[in-house]
Amino acid sequence: MNIEFPPMQATSTPKALKPNWSEPLRIGDRTLPARYCLAPLAGYTQLAFRRVIRELGGLGLATTDLVLATHLLSGHRHSRELIATHPSDQPLSIQIFGGSVGPLVESAKWLVDHGYEGIDLNMGCPMAKVNGAGGGARLMCDAVSARQLVAAVVQAVPVPVTVKMRLGWDRDSLTAPQLARDFEEEGVAAITIHGRTRQQGFQGTVNLEGIAATVAAVKSIPIIGNGDVRTIAEAVHMRKVTQCAAIAIGRGALLDPWIFRKLSDADAGRPIREPTSAEQINFLGRHFELMTEQHGERSCVLFRKFAAWYGARLGIPEELEQRLRLFESEREFAEIVDQIRDQQGTRRSTIATALIKVPNGPVERW
Ligand SMILES: Cc1cc2nc3c(=O)[nH]c(=O)nc-3n(C[C@H](O)[C@H](O)[C@H](O)COP(=O)(O)O)c2cc1C
Repeated sequence: MNIEFPPMQATSTPKALKPNWSEPLRIGDRTLPARYCLAPLAGYTQLAFRRVIRELGGLGLATTDLVLATHLLSGHRHSRELIATHPSDQPLSIQIFGGSVGPLVESAKWLVDHGYEGIDLNMGCPMAKVNGAGGGARLMCDAVSARQLVAAVVQAVPVPVTVKMRLGWDRDSLTAPQLARDFEEEGVAAITIHGRTRQQGFQGTVNLEGIAATVAAVKSIPIIGNGDVRTIAEAVHMRKVTQCAAIAIGRGALLDPWIFRKLSDADAGRPIREPTSAEQINFLGRHFELMTEQHGERSCVLFRKFAAWYGARLGIPEELEQRLRLFESEREFAEIVDQIRDQQGTRRSTIATALIKVPNGPVERW
């Protein structure tokens, strides 16, 4: 789908040089170890997954799943789990959302008081329950309120504040470039743009021209391009067409957790190495181990969400995948892993992204 962007006025000062991808990226006072970031995928990209992905190398910034500001302030158990981190889980931004300034400001301050070093504001979520409360992509519809909200959070905390948004609400309301410029003036340190509108949901293809228009609209802050990057070629294409300063990858990290390492290797001119079967199985074991470190025996239940994904990725028989869905102890998990070592590859490995549920039907009812 091709969305035409209205021409943008030139910024008052000429734009600095194109982003230099061979230099480290700075977001406010933070320096990222790589320009490839993990886009949040609520329910998947929690602490254990972020840690195991970081161990593979090549990842710059990771961001938590979206956390409702009011829940965070009331000490809601799930929201506290979502912000759980570890010294190896750095650099990390906590993504907060909500429709009112007060709780967003207070939760940002609370996070900084508790040692967190980056705040990300969600203005991209298309879900009705998030938009209905005035948060997520709904914020992109009212430029004045969005600007005030962003300014209030930036002024309240000494750490970099970033924003994640879509191109706009729908094709008649492509507000990302103007908002990005406004937010930069208010002191936002970087902006991630998912190149779809809220109306599009996850349909169609990502609109790189829309991301490029946002890159052109700001003076100097990094714009992080996002959407549909699953391979080195797609990352190179996004960079070339949009001139973005970094790339955030969500579903592509589930399709191939080694994507960050591969991208960094490609940039450094190193050979691209596919993981061996043993490495893939070790990844599964390590993911569970890290989950257990955080959740104890409860991780047996929490890990079920990943059963279908690992089953497809590793190409294991249905019966073993089913056991991965039902196991009840660490000992049982170890037995299953032993069997996976013996039987991996007996079923054809399939495209794992197909298993990540994205809502369907009319976006208004999500
Ligand atoms: C299951 C799922 C959960 C998501 N959760 C979040 C979230 O918590 N916060 C957010 O900003 N975006 C969220 N997103 C959007 C992604 O971060 C990303 O913008 C989108 O999937 C496009 O990038 P990709 O093609 O690399 O996945 C979610 C997407 C999916 C599919």
